[in-house]
Amino acid sequence: MKYVIGNDHGGLDLVDVVKETLESLGHEVIHVGTTENESVDYPDFANLACQKVLEKEADFAILICGTGIGMSISANKISGIRAAAVSECYSARMSRAHNNANCLCIGARVIGSETAKMIVEEFAKTDFEGGRHQKRVDKIINLESNK
Ligand code: RB5
Repeated sequence: MKYVIGNDHGGLDLVDVVKETLESLGHEVIHVGTTENESVDYPDFANLACQKVLEKEADFAILICGTGIGMSISANKISGIRAAAVSECYSARMSRAHNNANCLCIGARVIGSETAKMIVEEFAKTDFEGGRHQKRVDKIINLESNK
């Protein structure tokens, strides 16, 4: 699979561990986040990364900011993106299994690198279960168009 990582300055500390975790699982990684400590705006990087998913240059986005919240709010504004802000493993697994999330958001000021590694592994190893969950995910798309 191909992953795109997007981050702001608040997410810098987790970029390397996320990249290394994905690569150790055999995934390809594109990085579109900032590499500097200088303050930047997280919606810009959420958009850059999510566009890669929509353009099918990546299968999944992993967005990292200070809390994961700004990134998830931004990403969920983009039609076709299902972003989950997560800080523990159970939710990481369920975001794939039940919600078919295509975007994982984590906060570098909330979780440490070991937790980040476990969350990313859980997200990457879990498939969408489909079935009754497909109908619910389809209803999210209807919400996007205000049906
Ligand atoms: C940047 O200081 C911080 O606000 C940002 O990384 C993020 O936590 C927003 O949700």
